[in-house]
Amino acid sequence: MELMADNSIAILTAAPEQTRNRDIHYPYRQDSDLFYLTGFPEPEAVLVLVPGREHGECLIFCRDRNIEREIWDGYRAGPEGACEKYGADDAFPIDDIDEILPGLLEGRDRVYYAMGKDLTFDRHLMDWVNTIRGRARAGATPPGEFVDLDHLLHELRLFKSAAELKIMREAGKISTRAHCRAMQICKPGMYEYQLQAEIEHEFAMAGARFPAYGSIVGSGENGCILHYVENSAKLKDGDLVLIDAGCELQHYAADITRTFPVNGKYSAEQKAIYDVVLEAQLAGIKACAKDNHWDEPHQVTVQVITEGLRELGLLDGELNELIETKAYRYFYMHRAGHWLGMDVHDVGDYKIDDEWRLLEKGMVMTVEPGIYISPDNKDVHKRWRGIGIRIEDDVLVTAKGPEVLTSDAPKATADIEALMSENTPKNS
Ligand code: GLY
Ligand code: MN
Ligand code: MN
Repeated sequence: MELMADNSIAILTAAPEQTRNRDIHYPYRQDSDLFYLTGFPEPEAVLVLVPGREHGECLIFCRDRNIEREIWDGYRAGPEGACEKYGADDAFPIDDIDEILPGLLEGRDRVYYAMGKDLTFDRHLMDWVNTIRGRARAGATPPGEFVDLDHLLHELRLFKSAAELKIMREAGKISTRAHCRAMQICKPGMYEYQLQAEIEHEFAMAGARFPAYGSIVGSGENGCILHYVENSAKLKDGDLVLIDAGCELQHYAADITRTFPVNGKYSAEQKAIYDVVLEAQLAGIKACAKDNHWDEPHQVTVQVITEGLRELGLLDGELNELIETKAYRYFYMHRAGHWLGMDVHDVGDYKIDDEWRLLEKGMVMTVEPGIYISPDNKDVHKRWRGIGIRIEDDVLVTAKGPEVLTSDAPKATADIEALMSENTPKNS
């Protein structure tokens, strides 16, 4: 509210429920912005901030208590709970919003609202504004300015507080345990979905009920598909398996990738490519330092990967020219990372005034270079084809340098091979 202009109002809506099929919904996940500001977990809710309002600045509209519905669908906080449990100054039944919101909007100069995200709500808001316009001759003044709230709010979300980091460190720990479990249980003949089940078992047993995104388990050539989520193939002796999976804990995401050999031992070709990706990833992490700009970790990964591919004979030409012409993009076609937080691809600007922004303490980002050699790439010797490798960790920028939140999952080939040769974990 301190960041908002004088005489303004902000309106945020809850995420809608989503149908999965017929009368079944997907598990409900609150909108990250609304949750960040309130912790309020229910659908059909609206948060209204009116700084300086005498009878309450923080208002929540939500579903009324309803004993009969609650028997079917679960507990509701109701307006009373919204005040007592979630700290609203005042709260109202969502069914009364048409009567109350126009009065709150009237006379405000500016409305902060994320237009275009929820078309039904956009229309309601315009209806309320038109209601006020209709009363202009009686002296009502509708707001004149509509401003996107995202810019102010997402700048806040980009910098993680100590309380947020505590959760993110824990999400990182749970997720690394899950990757270790998958490494130890993996053997030829299992299916990709069985490794997914092992990973998600470890998440759920720790109270992280859902993955932060669809878990990717891609063995062999499937490792070359960046967002592979079929997870249906049988794991073959001699292949690698790439697992990109992280849990969501208390609305915060972890995002980890490890790539390991199905049979516990990297082949010479796999290890050669792997070591290039690992060197790039370690250099990328080192570059996540205060006062470096956002693009520096990406640039160092490009440099190391291009050099490595050249040394292995997979790229041919002069180093700077290969970088300038982006020749590496046949093998490394994505960026080195993204902001991480409540959303896996978290909010926050990457550029300020058209320049890459500087890294500052409290920002959390991923570093996830990869090399993917298409099975159809006829320009390379066939011993390289179908190898897909990514290594991804979550990194906090601190005053003392980068802190890796996901360091408990091994990533040097020797460490992974050692872990995979240990006994498989008991079914916890
Ligand atoms: N798992 C999504 C990503 O790595 O960006
Ligand atoms: Mn990932
Ligand atoms: Mn990622």
